[in-house]
Amino acid sequence: MTTRISREEMAVQRDFIYKVAEINSKKSPPTAHVHTFGCQQNVTDGEKIKGMLEKMGYSIKDEPNGADLVILNTCAVRENAENRVFGNLGALKHEKQNNPDMIIGVCGCMTQQEHITEKIRSSFPFVDMIFGVNALHTFPQLLYEQLSERKRCVCVPQGDGVIAEGVPLRRESKLKASVPIMYGCNNFCSYCIVPYVRGRERSREMSDIIAEVKSALADGAREILLLGQNVNSYGKELGTSFAELIRRINALDGEFRICYMSSHPKDFTKPLIDAVAECEKVTRHFHLPVQSGSDRILKLMNRHYGREDYFEMIDYIRKKVPNAAVTSDIIVGFPGEEREDFLQTLSLVERVKFDSLFTFIYSPRKGTKAAEMPDPISAEEKGKWFRELLDVQGKIGGNAYNRYVGQTFRVLCEGKGRTDDNLLTGKTPQDVIVDFEGDSSLIGKFADVKIIRALNWALIGKLV
Ligand code: SAH
Ligand code: SF4
Ligand code: F3S
Repeated sequence: MTTRISREEMAVQRDFIYKVAEINSKKSPPTAHVHTFGCQQNVTDGEKIKGMLEKMGYSIKDEPNGADLVILNTCAVRENAENRVFGNLGALKHEKQNNPDMIIGVCGCMTQQEHITEKIRSSFPFVDMIFGVNALHTFPQLLYEQLSERKRCVCVPQGDGVIAEGVPLRRESKLKASVPIMYGCNNFCSYCIVPYVRGRERSREMSDIIAEVKSALADGAREILLLGQNVNSYGKELGTSFAELIRRINALDGEFRICYMSSHPKDFTKPLIDAVAECEKVTRHFHLPVQSGSDRILKLMNRHYGREDYFEMIDYIRKKVPNAAVTSDIIVGFPGEEREDFLQTLSLVERVKFDSLFTFIYSPRKGTKAAEMPDPISAEEKGKWFRELLDVQGKIGGNAYNRYVGQTFRVLCEGKGRTDDNLLTGKTPQDVIVDFEGDSSLIGKFADVKIIRALNWALIGKLV
């Protein structure tokens, strides 16, 4: 069962925040470093950890060197994500030799897996705290116990997951506010670890979300990123829907942009596309992970749609939303995938013409269904297919932005240009980067920009 953490329980955690702040007030202000791996959901968890730390008297620093506390907020989605964490832990060992009082904590998705917790416990004895995703809101209590007893703690409650409201937050950006709308995933795509480490789907109350959006807007946010593993199924258990949520947020006063991630094609229904088309503040960027172009593989992946369904959805989007940008995720080398299946993926990519693609080589995740399936294709062969896919997409993506040339878009100015200080950089409603000449007083505001040139990865524009 998923649990809503009660107000009383959250008040207990607030007391621990005061207690830690009190301990810290007696010495020179301690520093903390939080390193977040993985997806936007994890980034918002990192923002919560930093928010709690700040309230507990820590100043946040960007480097682990010399910090009093280091937290690694981990991701388990692919093997290389996990390897990076282990690499970072190895480096921290030396840090700790120079600074034996340093507290090292590991949290996030990796820690929800028993074999990983066991590995950290036995191979990284200098890690002081291991706490799971479901224990995040109890971080103040765990840290208080750590500071008072200096005893190793492992706190990884299993279960379907929690909703904890009112955890302090320290947002990474003033302009862009990430707002989780739901947690967990029920889809159990056969390759994916997320449902095992993030628990069952559970939605925040709409009133809590709207209140958070309003407060972010009042603080100056101009882009609201609504987050969930599968935002399209928001609100099912509350008798509401994602379409209703975006309509409510779209109706709030002021000029701002609404983005969301991630979407699952099986839940991206025509009524939802209609709602997006209707809501002028909602991004014109559709990230719709297709994973494979082969019906046989999609079935084995447990994705609940076929390639024809996908085409139909994309065609409807392009009909309803002029200038829509469409991007996707693709996995190459799923167990049992054959050359024939891979060619189906290539043909899908050629037919849809994505603006850009995120491509991954299949990585077996312990405990998932796919990890038990026979996987006869060699890593070498998969690598060859992977490069073939990149080549095909490279040719398509290279021309994708040409269609924007000559058009004028409302652009959110985000800051100074990356390559040239005289330029400003911003994003079009399709989430495409555009650089243009303009006064820095425009930063944080919207402006009309005419696109004059397309590069491979960005646009060049001119203020109108
Ligand atoms: N909930 C989101 C994101 C999941 S993780 C969604 O459904 O879109 C982001 C991407 O990582 C997935 O879309 C998938 O393409 C990739 N991925 C997930 N598990 C993987 C694995 N075991 N091996 C390779 N890629 C994987
Ligand atoms: Fe993983 Fe599928 Fe859930 Fe996305 S929808 S998090 S890929 S199980
Ligand atoms: Fe990784 Fe966890 Fe996100 S596994 S992709 S950080 S939900």
